[in-house]
Amino acid sequence: MTTAEIRAKYLKFFIGKPRNHKEISPAPLVPENDPTTLFTSSGMQQLVPYLTGENHPEGKRLVDVQPSIRLQDIDEVGDNRHTTFFEMLGNWSLGDYFKAEQLPWVWEFFTKELGLDGNRLYVSCFEGNKEVPRDTESAKIWKKIRVPEDHIFFYGVKENWWSRSGPPNKMPVGEIGGPDSEIFYEFTQVKHDPKFGEKCHPNCECGRFLEIGNSVFIQYQKTKEGLKELSQKNVDFGGGLERIAAAMNDDPDVFKIDAFVLLIKKISSVTGKAYKRNETSMRIIADHMRAANMIIREGVEPSNKQQGYVLRRLIRRSALKVRDLKGKLVGGDLSLNFESDIAKVIEDEVGRFSISLEKGMKQIEKIDSVDSKKAFDLYQTYGFPFEVTQEIFADKGQKIDKDKFQKELEMHQEKSRSASAGKFKGGLADSSEATKKLHTVTHLLHAALRSILGDHVSQKGSNITSDRLRFDFSHKEKLNEDEIKKVEVLINKEIDKDLEVTSETMTLDEAKDAGALAFFGHKYDELVKVYSIGKFSKEVCGGPHVKRLSEIKGHVRINKEESVSSGVRRIYAVIEK
Ligand code: SER
Repeated sequence: MTTAEIRAKYLKFFIGKPRNHKEISPAPLVPENDPTTLFTSSGMQQLVPYLTGENHPEGKRLVDVQPSIRLQDIDEVGDNRHTTFFEMLGNWSLGDYFKAEQLPWVWEFFTKELGLDGNRLYVSCFEGNKEVPRDTESAKIWKKIRVPEDHIFFYGVKENWWSRSGPPNKMPVGEIGGPDSEIFYEFTQVKHDPKFGEKCHPNCECGRFLEIGNSVFIQYQKTKEGLKELSQKNVDFGGGLERIAAAMNDDPDVFKIDAFVLLIKKISSVTGKAYKRNETSMRIIADHMRAANMIIREGVEPSNKQQGYVLRRLIRRSALKVRDLKGKLVGGDLSLNFESDIAKVIEDEVGRFSISLEKGMKQIEKIDSVDSKKAFDLYQTYGFPFEVTQEIFADKGQKIDKDKFQKELEMHQEKSRSASAGKFKGGLADSSEATKKLHTVTHLLHAALRSILGDHVSQKGSNITSDRLRFDFSHKEKLNEDEIKKVEVLINKEIDKDLEVTSETMTLDEAKDAGALAFFGHKYDELVKVYSIGKFSKEVCGGPHVKRLSEIKGHVRINKEESVSSGVRRIYAVIEK
């Protein structure tokens, strides 16, 4: 079964009767309205307000497939099952059904819909601690649906507790989470390796078991006094699509599934090497370039900051692996089978790196013992991301102190601070006058779209350069010419009124009561800034903005409207004099 078929079956199963879930749009991979995190790493991230009691417009039963990136797994990539980018099959009960419904449904999906052999499936439940009781309820449900007793395991907070920050003692005040019940697939052909412990079990690292699904019972919130029960009991299920596909293949190598096959084939042809015996490098290249492709799609360019730095690191690490495999590196090596505009970004980055790469490698050969200063020089002069240098020297048995490297970097940045002081705020690429005007236009556009299309429109992402704005928003259908015209006319009418742009500081609750738009999934400080444009627009925002609309000095034209993903549209607009 292909990943596309699994995805479609999953959505159909949860949307269908009697489960009756509503499909929601996945969050963008780069949550531009959430500066606390670089990438979306789980499906529940956009649902936090609803898991804590707000009403979701689509109801209490939701389902989606969420593209996700988990950078914490990057060092594991190269084995047969870890990837940085993956798609998460998610479904949620927002205070509606609970364990008695969820666990049998997941079982039914895996065994009946996908046809996985139930004898190969194992489950785990929370063993309990001082604050939260042992989850005998889940174990009873598993037994009732004939999961044999010796396929049911109990573990503690390390394995069977989920929150975005890990176990309860790591959860900050306000964070939500709960015990979970996981499902594992057993690859009986993999022999247990005693290096990982005497006895094999579902959470053993030997590779015989693979976790393919996790039902989290989000029913707790961390408070200053400890864990407190939420007013509603939620279910948050996540299943890794790629791992499920590997289980369907009954092959523990995730890189043999359809989503990777063509990529690996292409890497083989570019490097002239077979996958066999070169698995580790090829898996790293395949994973990193697949992730790079998805990040570039979100409008990120390689840079030395934030998401751009991650992208650079993924491409440059892959470039070194290609060079290791074929002995040299050329610009087009990593374009693989990607679409031409994506390939161009990759080609340019590989091109930039390949110029200094050979010189850097010569330099590395001369280094007997590495330190943070030398690592900084390799970064600064030859463009070697710290982690790449770290890996090269780790292979030679040498360590580099990351904190010291960071200090070198900060010292350098302090010296060269200029124009960069304005940094990245609210999706702005810089803080020039031009981007400031377009930022204000983004607020006008948001309000105009809601006025013309309806209140279901909400911002999903924003990216502004000095030439244009790009704005993503929730809306199902393509905008017709008439709607685009109406939005433009409305914005320009407001600009002609020369409205004043004002800001006030208040608590988030006060802001919401005042009708200000705020973005879900964003962690706000206690006090927020609210920008108003006359009576036309009110948004929680960090600024900066023009003081009066006459400063925009022109009219707005929408020059492109397109789909980004299901239920999300994208607009590009410019200011014309
Ligand atoms: N939130 C859980 C996870 O990310 C299940 O969706 O694993």
